[in-house]
Amino acid sequence: MEERELKLSYRVYSGKAELPEEDVRLMQEAVKALASAYAPYSDFKVAAALLLANGKIVTGTNQENAAFPAGICAEGTAFSTASSLYPDTAVLKMAVTVKSEKRKVEKPVAPCGICRQRILEYENRFAQAIEIIMTGECGAVYSVRSVKDLLPLHFSQQDL
Ligand code: THU
Repeated sequence: MEERELKLSYRVYSGKAELPEEDVRLMQEAVKALASAYAPYSDFKVAAALLLANGKIVTGTNQENAAFPAGICAEGTAFSTASSLYPDTAVLKMAVTVKSEKRKVEKPVAPCGICRQRILEYENRFAQAIEIIMTGECGAVYSVRSVKDLLPLHFSQQDL
């Protein structure tokens, strides 16, 4: 038996203002998109903004359902929209933000497990790492260079 260790790194910015200009803009688009989240059950709105290789920005928000598992995460909506509108275009970056009606979210929120798998599919499909920039409503911002930093030992098409 051998014990192995994985190393992953993420960047921590003290706030949105410290981000590079392009990322500030992407995050602003995500914040704007929060208005179209449909989250009457959790009161937890999530928005994602994607920067595509063609320069376009595509946003998506969580869309809940009375039958809870039928709800869709913001990242799922955003990637499905990007794939439908621009099926041949890679995604370079994603900014994710949230707004809770119940409390002030003071630290970054990371994509759920299913969304990590969705993002991995996109990365592999276009052989293009996708930077993920995460915030709460205020406070620090985290970023990773690839979803693989959030999903080590992943399952992909190479395993089939
Ligand atoms: N949610 C997202 O949109 N993205 C995530 O990565 C985490 C969770 C949504 C799903 C649900 O509508 C609400 O947040 C509360 O779980």
